[in-house]
Amino acid sequence: MTTAEKESATDGFDVSELVRPDRVHGSVYTSPEVYRREMDTIFKTGWVYVGHESEIKQPGDYLTRMIGSDPVVVVRSKDNQVRVLLNRCTHRAAKLCTAEMGNATSFRCPYHGWTFSNTGELRGVPMREAYGEAFDEVRSDLGMAAAPRVDSYGGFIFASLAPEGVSLIQHLGKATGAIDRLLNLSPTGEIEFASTWMKHLHHANWKMVVENNVDGYHALFTHISVYESIRPAKVSHVPEKTSVLVRDLGDGHSEIDYSEEYRRLDEEFVWYGRIPREKLGGYAEALENAYGPEKTHESLVIGPPHTLIWPNLFLAEMNVMFVEPQAPDRTVAYTTAVQIPGQPELNERTLRRCEGAMGPAGFLIADDGEIGMRNQAGLAAESPEWLVLARGAGSDITNESGVINNDKSAETPQRGFYQRWAAVVGGQA
Ligand code: FES
Ligand code: FE2
Repeated sequence: MTTAEKESATDGFDVSELVRPDRVHGSVYTSPEVYRREMDTIFKTGWVYVGHESEIKQPGDYLTRMIGSDPVVVVRSKDNQVRVLLNRCTHRAAKLCTAEMGNATSFRCPYHGWTFSNTGELRGVPMREAYGEAFDEVRSDLGMAAAPRVDSYGGFIFASLAPEGVSLIQHLGKATGAIDRLLNLSPTGEIEFASTWMKHLHHANWKMVVENNVDGYHALFTHISVYESIRPAKVSHVPEKTSVLVRDLGDGHSEIDYSEEYRRLDEEFVWYGRIPREKLGGYAEALENAYGPEKTHESLVIGPPHTLIWPNLFLAEMNVMFVEPQAPDRTVAYTTAVQIPGQPELNERTLRRCEGAMGPAGFLIADDGEIGMRNQAGLAAESPEWLVLARGAGSDITNESGVINNDKSAETPQRGFYQRWAAVVGGQA
């Protein structure tokens, strides 16, 4: 984005009225104007997660997704290149593709039958003679618009609607470590999303949904029924009893990191119901063959990440979630289980665990969805104006890994999130 474009996107909009170091204004979650600016800045100019390479393995495989308010088709074109095409006919704008996923050599518009190849090129125009001679000259400009930048890391595909800006690797910054941590649990170094997605409509602002994922304070209250039903809990949720920390990784990314506590216990699979290796087919052996016994033990002790990747992706240990904002008070969260190629015993268990936590009758997402709705309902009372994010502010420690707080219940991740939010929405990033 050029400076002039940034200025016109923010035209005098003062984010310091909305975000302070330890608090955030209620209108951040409710204002249609703030929401519109988020779509124009965060989602129109930055990198946004759009899909995973394992979902579009074959030429012609596609997914329909949103980048903020723009519908897109994420497609592996016939030339094997992954493209992110704007899901809009170039004639009179009809949305071309409504299936969630599929395989197609072309997309045909339902309105007047224009046909686009899976590279986005305009191929067929019914009764084209009526356009006259000049039409052939403009035809090459009438392909589906494409996101100018598409890139991936560890199979996670991101797109940016802005032609210029930081590279994906710069955008991800320290969050690449979280993706690596997840991939270290796969003997092939790859993961798959092979089970499609569960969708939950949250009657809450999208930021409430994502920031809840790195809130280490609420578990003992919101999720108490889970801890009363499932014992033993993986680790205590009382902060002073554990070495679990929260971390602002910078650039809007943040996490709850259990690795120190798991290393202290030095026990494999604490994060996976303390299951013995023998129950997982040849999974641990396959990891040892790939990485050796030491690294395998380390990976199986520390487990997967619990990391929010700005703005819309959450690595939820052996689940992955991404969010689709639909309105200031309406968000769809998509969740699936992480599957490891060639490990059916593990995958079956992971799928059942995912359903148990995130399914329609699941424990966790139902609780969090209810809280999101209650937050949004509470915000209708406009007083007090500010929400408090001060917890632990005095005990944050900056080190080479980011800003950490050794109290898991500190609001360090949320402070990092809103620092980034203010910079992007305010036109400074
Ligand atoms: Fe698509 Fe007319 S709107 S062909
Ligand atoms: Fe929760």
